[in-house]
Order: sequence, then structure tokens, then C-alpha cells
Amino acid sequence: MPDAVAANAANPHLAQYNARGLAGRIFSGVQPTGNLHLGNYLGAIRNFVRFQSSYDCIFCVVDQHAITVWQDPKELTNQTREITAAFLAAGIDAKTHIIFNQSLVPAHAQLAWVFNCVARMGWMSRMTQFKEKAGKDRENVSLGLFAYPSLMAADILAYKATHVPVGEDQKQHLELTRDIAIKFNNDFAVPDFFPITEPLIQGAATRVMSLRDGTKKMSKSDPSDYSRINLTDDSDTIAQKIRKAKTDPLPMPDSEAEAEKRPEAANLLDIYAALIDAERADIVASFAGQQFSAFKNALTEVAVAKLGPIGAEMQRLMKDPAYVDSVLRNGGERARAIAEPILAEVYRTVGFLKP
Ligand code: TRP
Repeated sequence: MPDAVAANAANPHLAQYNARGLAGRIFSGVQPTGNLHLGNYLGAIRNFVRFQSSYDCIFCVVDQHAITVWQDPKELTNQTREITAAFLAAGIDAKTHIIFNQSLVPAHAQLAWVFNCVARMGWMSRMTQFKEKAGKDRENVSLGLFAYPSLMAADILAYKATHVPVGEDQKQHLELTRDIAIKFNNDFAVPDFFPITEPLIQGAATRVMSLRDGTKKMSKSDPSDYSRINLTDDSDTIAQKIRKAKTDPLPMPDSEAEAEKRPEAANLLDIYAALIDAERADIVASFAGQQFSAFKNALTEVAVAKLGPIGAEMQRLMKDPAYVDSVLRNGGERARAIAEPILAEVYRTVGFLKP
């Protein structure tokens, strides 16, 4: 028996999915804070779309995580709809899988409280994202920001998800999720109650950098809108941003080694490769020695072809908030049907009296 299959056979959590020809259950969350951009698409959403054929998928707009830092209420509502629109426009099937916003399912917050009492102060204090976000202002950040990873563990384990697609920056939070699952299973002597969730690390090839600085990640918080391509940008805006993207005065690199030394060139090559699902080496070969402007024209063409339809569909969906909300409500209902019995078992295990 191959190792992976042997491991699966020994893992009771995977058996039910394997029996249906699936590899497991995925849970992933996206925060409704700020516009979605090309980095979110290539680094996360596009992969979500691909996972649909081999996993049972639950995609969550994590509004409760969002408010760990201040959010304007109206903006929060809009952004929640926008992420949902992006999921749908990119091709996530909300009938076969589940799309919902976190606050629709009380089990997340309820399980998070139990996990707050399982996780240790020391574990949480070691979270690098908290240390970065809190910075020198540790006394003034919300308690929620500190407890953030505990809620994330609850998101995942309320559905006993077996796999979580995560970027590098969320690896530590997923490890904490595993630690919480192990400690809960041990403390209450319920071996195998929670699965030890596996990360599905998103490839480095899909790390999209700023169009203004090839050494910085493309980010919603960059003050310059020219640093990123937003999913809702129209064709003209995409073309203009690529035309203005920072480059160096040299012609296109003629080897990968040379591209490595030129971060802006490497980034644009990576974006091109990711958009057409090719290897960077192939793109380097086809444009080697050419003028940057020729490459930028070609990049604009593929970017507009891939992103244009998604942006247009998002715009259309954003004009129909009642429909978007109905997708979330339906997803929320189906999510509750999964999470409630699991939470009930947790409550019983902990010794809470039944209502
Ligand atoms: N912390 C994640 C991020 O900022 C979002 C998130 C919340 C998440 N809950 C999750 C991701 C559960 C994966 C699984 O990107």
C-alpha cells in the first residue's frame, strides 16, 4: 500500500471522504477587509476553484476575524458581499460546496470560547502575526486580536476539516490549530475526536509582488493603487497599471538566473506564467532579450482575458446584493447543520449541561 493511502486508512476522519472519492474536507477563510487583488486571486481563490473537484469545500468570509481591528460597519457589509461575489465569479459552485459568512454560524464563537480555555497564553504569545500587528501598541490592541488564532482553530474544527489551504503567513496559525486539537483530544480523553488538520501550502510561484516594488508583497494596504491589480479593475485600468508597472531599463532577462536578480522583471514574469498556467522558465524563454514594452503588451492581453470576465461578473453580482445575501444565507444554513452536532458533542464532552 502506498504510504499516503496507508496513512489515510489509519485516519478515521478521511475515510468518509475517501469512500466518496474525495481527498477530504477543506475549510478556508478570507477576511472582508479591503479590495481583493490579483495576489488574492492567484494565491488563494483560484486554488479554491481547483480544489472543488477533489474535496468537500467550505469557504467562509470571516467577518468576525475582520473586527479584531476597527472596521466601518457599512464597509464591512460591502466587503463581505464583494468577497462572496469574487468566489462566485471565479467559479466556486455554492450548491455543491458551501459559501457563507462566519457570523451566521454561532458555533464558531461558541467553540472559540472552549478553545480559549484549551490554548495556553504562552502559545498565543508566540504568534508572529499578533506580534507584527500589535507592534509597540500591545496595550491598545483588542483582546480579539490576541485570541484571533483560537477563533481560526474553531472555524476549522467546527467542521472537522481535514485540510486547509494556507499561505506561508498562516502556517503558524494552522500549527496552533493542530496543537489545540491534540490538547483537546488528550485532555478530555477523546482520541481522534478532532482531526489533525493538514495544511495545503499555496506555492511560492503564486506569491504576487507589488507592481511598484518587486520586493514587497502585493497588498490591499499599499497606499498606491498602482501597486496592485484589483479584481474589479476594468480592462483599461489593468492595461494602465501594467504599462506603469516598475521595471528596469534593461531588455527582458534571457535566463531564470538573471530574472532572479531583477525582482520587478521576475514578478511580471511570474504573474504571466501563473495567469496562463505555465512555468516561469518557458515565459523567460519566449521573451528573452525583447523590449519590456512588448512583454507588457502581451501581459496586458492575458491579464485582461483572464481577469476581465471575473471583474465584470463581480460588478454584476454587486448590483444584486439580495442574490448574494441569499447565497450566504443558504450556505450558512448548511454550515450550521454540520457544525451544530459537532459543537453539541464538544459541549457534552466538556460536561456542559444540555439546554
Ligand atoms: N487568518 C486567515 C487570513 O488572514 C483567515 C482565516 C480565518 C482562515 N479563519 C480561517 C484561513 C480558517 C483558513 C482557515 O488569511
